[in-house]
Amino acid sequence: MWKKMSVKHKTTAKYLRWLSSFSCRSGSDAALRQDKQTGSLKNKIRKTGKSKRLPCPAVLEHFDRQYSEELGDLWAPARAVLLDQASWQYGVMLNRFSSVTNITQILLSQGFSSLLPQTDVSGELRNDASTVPNSTHQKGKDTLSPHFFPKCPPEAIGLLPYITSHAISQAHQSELPLNFPHSSLQCYIHPDPLRFPSQAHRPGQLKQYYLLNAASLLPVLALQVRDGDKVLDLCSAPGGKAVAIMQSATPALLCCNEPDPHRRDWLSKTLESFLPPSLSSRVMVSAQDGRSVGQSEAGFYDKILVDAPCSNDRSWLHSSYRHQGQQRLEDRARLPVLQTQLLKSAISAVRPGGVVVYSTCTLSSLENCAVVEAVLNDFPDTEVENLWEEIVLPLSKYFTFIALPVHKQIDPKPSLRPLIGSVSSSYHRLGILVVPHPGKTWGPMFLSRIRKKG
Ligand SMILES: C[S@@+](CC[C@H](N)C(=O)[O-])C[C@H]1O[C@@H](n2cnc3c(N)ncnc32)[C@H](O)[C@@H]1O
Repeated sequence: MWKKMSVKHKTTAKYLRWLSSFSCRSGSDAALRQDKQTGSLKNKIRKTGKSKRLPCPAVLEHFDRQYSEELGDLWAPARAVLLDQASWQYGVMLNRFSSVTNITQILLSQGFSSLLPQTDVSGELRNDASTVPNSTHQKGKDTLSPHFFPKCPPEAIGLLPYITSHAISQAHQSELPLNFPHSSLQCYIHPDPLRFPSQAHRPGQLKQYYLLNAASLLPVLALQVRDGDKVLDLCSAPGGKAVAIMQSATPALLCCNEPDPHRRDWLSKTLESFLPPSLSSRVMVSAQDGRSVGQSEAGFYDKILVDAPCSNDRSWLHSSYRHQGQQRLEDRARLPVLQTQLLKSAISAVRPGGVVVYSTCTLSSLENCAVVEAVLNDFPDTEVENLWEEIVLPLSKYFTFIALPVHKQIDPKPSLRPLIGSVSSSYHRLGILVVPHPGKTWGPMFLSRIRKKG
């Protein structure tokens, strides 16, 4: 049980056989179950194809207005991806604490490849998992849903400074070594929108993998967690990034904060599903309003992730009814204030020399650059770090990045200069934005790393 802190601190037969192979049962009972499950998996595949939700007209209209202005020509391909749920790709982040080890071979045999450089997962870590009773794989509750989509024409150049993955990959891809420090973090991706089955939560049993939008790993990579760090995940539920942090390193403390009680339960279940009990002394769940940690825990943490509440463009676009969409648009207008308060609070809670990573899953500049800029203005002892060489260049093969405007004090007219063809690693950006694009549907994801000067 995870400690609570109140104040401180291709749907192919092969796949189906694989899914069924994890059954703990044997004999005719198992065979019968297997047949039923295979049948239900097939049913689910058909349902997935039919159950696409229509976009909410009010939200789509709003996005069209705002994003055509902010993203220029990049909005049309991003819009196409956001509207076409069947094109969405899913990353498979492996759980290094799971004792089941054949997932990698299965992924590779199905055409998945590793997003990050790989290292062998140590036996020691797997032994940790062995302390969890029955830490075997649980049969997936969903099924694989292959969808195919046409390849898109080459990217067009927009008005904002941006660089496409195409441009970067031509220039740098082959000669750049991938040199992430987080080598134990492993995520597999597929060029097609194949979806692995998700695994149901079973108390006391570790899951083998977490399905996610691969762009969600970028804020965790930018956080650069090292063994022994004191880390705060300020807005933590449902816990995907907390799990990714624990795949990356072994911090002395990871405090996962979530004020919403239902979402906190979800967070606790996620942690229980992915981390062995031996880690429960260093991974804690707290329930604070993130805006108060700057006061209650001033200067305490080495690294803080602010994965802020935001207008989640993917899901908001598919709001289930008009009223919900309109309500969300009203909420959207209020979010930058909350986000700014959370980021300020995090800056106060990090030690001098420490870093805060701010991230959202919206394309909206008001929730991204504007928030970072407001906070930088209030904290002269902070600076934004350049994620260009560390994140953009090595991963440009997989993601479509926009490098967001240079800080006003350094360049007064940043938004008018396209970076294509004149890329300079010395640009000082407020952050980077992953924009969904056909074939690379990852994102939206904005991230910015702010260091408190030591
Ligand atoms: C984008 S979600 C976080 C996703 C999570 N980091 C993950 O990777 O699974 C934002 C979270 O912030 C929480 N939140 C909302 N207001 C908050 C506040 N005042 N302080 C801290 N967290 C808050 C929301 O309940 C929500 O769970």
